[in-house]
Amino acid sequence: MSHSPKDSWSNRILPLSSGKMVDFEVTVFTANIDYAGTLNNVYIELVGTDGNSERELLMDYLRTWNFIRGAVSSFTVPCPVSIGKLIQIKLDKPRFLFFEDNWFPKKVEVKSPEGDTYNFPIYRWINDSEVHCFREGTALTACKDPHSKTIREQEIKQRESDYCWHDHAEGLPHCMKADSLFSLPSALRFSYTKDIELAFTLGTGLIELKLEGVADSVDDWTKIDDIKTVFPCRSTQIYDYAEEHWKEDAFFGYQFLNGVNPMLIRRCSTLPKNFPVTDEMVFSRGPYTLAEEMKKGNIFLCDFKLLDGLKANIIKEKQQYMTAPLVLLHKTPDDKLMPLAIQLKQTPGEDNPIFLPTDSEYDWLMAKIFVRSADFNLHQLNVHLLRTHLLAEVFTVSLMRNIPMVHPLHKLLLAHTWDTLEINYLARNQLISKNGTYTEFAAAGGEDMMKLLKRSLSSLTYSSLCIPEDITERGLQTVPNFYYRDDGLELWGIIQRFVERMLKFYYNNDAEVKKDSELQKWISDIFKHGFLSKVSSGIPQRFTTVEELVKFVTMVIFTCSGQHSAVNSGQYDYGGWMPNSPSTMQRPPPTRKGKTNQDTMLQTLPNKGVTANAMAALWLLSKSSSDYVPLGQYPEAHFNETNPCELIKHFQGMLQALSANIKIRNLPLKVPYTYMDPEKVENSVAI
Ligand code: FE2
Repeated sequence: MSHSPKDSWSNRILPLSSGKMVDFEVTVFTANIDYAGTLNNVYIELVGTDGNSERELLMDYLRTWNFIRGAVSSFTVPCPVSIGKLIQIKLDKPRFLFFEDNWFPKKVEVKSPEGDTYNFPIYRWINDSEVHCFREGTALTACKDPHSKTIREQEIKQRESDYCWHDHAEGLPHCMKADSLFSLPSALRFSYTKDIELAFTLGTGLIELKLEGVADSVDDWTKIDDIKTVFPCRSTQIYDYAEEHWKEDAFFGYQFLNGVNPMLIRRCSTLPKNFPVTDEMVFSRGPYTLAEEMKKGNIFLCDFKLLDGLKANIIKEKQQYMTAPLVLLHKTPDDKLMPLAIQLKQTPGEDNPIFLPTDSEYDWLMAKIFVRSADFNLHQLNVHLLRTHLLAEVFTVSLMRNIPMVHPLHKLLLAHTWDTLEINYLARNQLISKNGTYTEFAAAGGEDMMKLLKRSLSSLTYSSLCIPEDITERGLQTVPNFYYRDDGLELWGIIQRFVERMLKFYYNNDAEVKKDSELQKWISDIFKHGFLSKVSSGIPQRFTTVEELVKFVTMVIFTCSGQHSAVNSGQYDYGGWMPNSPSTMQRPPPTRKGKTNQDTMLQTLPNKGVTANAMAALWLLSKSSSDYVPLGQYPEAHFNETNPCELIKHFQGMLQALSANIKIRNLPLKVPYTYMDPEKVENSVAI
């Protein structure tokens, strides 16, 4: 929290009547990162349970060097009387002449005259002349912090004005109100060296991939192989695999499990009424029947109904196309997931044939390409943007508005909020804005984009955000080679045990959870601003037990870390090779069989310019950020007490073990699954 300092020098006049002075020893640690040091003056005021010190200038004969990058500087702060147990410090650094710079202090240690040492973790940028208040590091819920009721209330009041909700578009989760990228509070930005805006600019991606020459082309592709020659650089192991195997049914099926959208597939026990697949179509040569295979749990469905009826985009004045397909898949005895049938639109009829692997090569391939394009669009807006980015922002804004820094939940979640507000501001302004990349180059980026996001939010459930329940609800417990599930469940379990131990250290029973009004405000704001008070979402409106709290906090950390990685990091791997994941389709879906050939397929795929721009965007979105911090690493030591610090170490050990196991599992795989390897999972939604 911050407010304006009083006159610089008047506060230094100490009362004369006090007689004996007591001295506090103050040590200030400035971070050893780029631009962390300040040449400004630094003032401190100590706040104790029995009174305050004066506002003191921290200065010695080395004044200029006291707060440079990496400095550890000690000072004596006199006080007329004992001020009791220290609970807060106030820091400010007024301009030096006309010069104001940024400062990143790590922590301040204060030794009292009574011999006690108090540690004040800071770990944030101070880039103004305001007074900033920091609490002593011991984590405290409100009921265990009786001396600080006013301090907590003042902090929250300040935060409520720093972090305001904004209704960006009707039917979407509310977001952080901001006039510009740099008007966002610096408290949640880790590094000034990360030039986030440049990194997010499409031009950067086009340059890095050497695609500037094709970015404006409206020419269609005339040969699939031309795509290889135009885009020769920046391949990855999976990009190469996709380029070689994109036409294969087994790879098509595999991607519903371990590609960037593992969230759609579900076991099918009854065929949907609008998808009249028959045994004759799919098992005419035996030995199976659909009924038997469904009974055995071997039939799966991917239904893109959320896309039904949406108007596709118009790109460079040309109408685009997007369908809402239904896909039926079969788990074969050799543990492959093979597509059996595809219907490209939701309403069955003569103009909406059910395509089969036995159709002509191009009829079947074209049907699969329409599915992959639908998947690209549903993935980007629902699975990636809404279910990870926008929700992470809701969790963050509610945390900052409602939970004071001394609260254990604030300390626990802070590392999972870094850079999220910045990246989402950029996503709103550079991806889904009027001239945004998504709006200009994707089929769902047109006038119905918000409609899709709105539909997606209204169908979103709490259980679908909790991977153990999600997997069970979708009937996917025993599907072979489902690495998203295997790694995700392991990761969820590790996070859940860590969160449980941490929170049980601070909450002895359910009653303490119930009466924690700050915590209750956090969840009620999430329910209201994130899920628009939709009771059917199943999102709790309040917490009544420790168990409920543990589950929700586990979901928050999992969503901001593992889940985001699972749906973000493979975007270039699976989408870089455009035919495997076209952002849009230039011609309508076939209404009859036997009408598609290689030429019509090439005319239907995105043109050269759209391909280049989509590829550049996926390249940028798949890169890890320059100040990437892996899951479970907490470079900022916000917890003081031994027990939580040991729990963090144990958490890190468990994550390391999972990482080693995933690496061993991946060794024999042609297509390794690395997105939930804790070493590759970032702590927060930061790209
Ligand atoms: Fe992302």
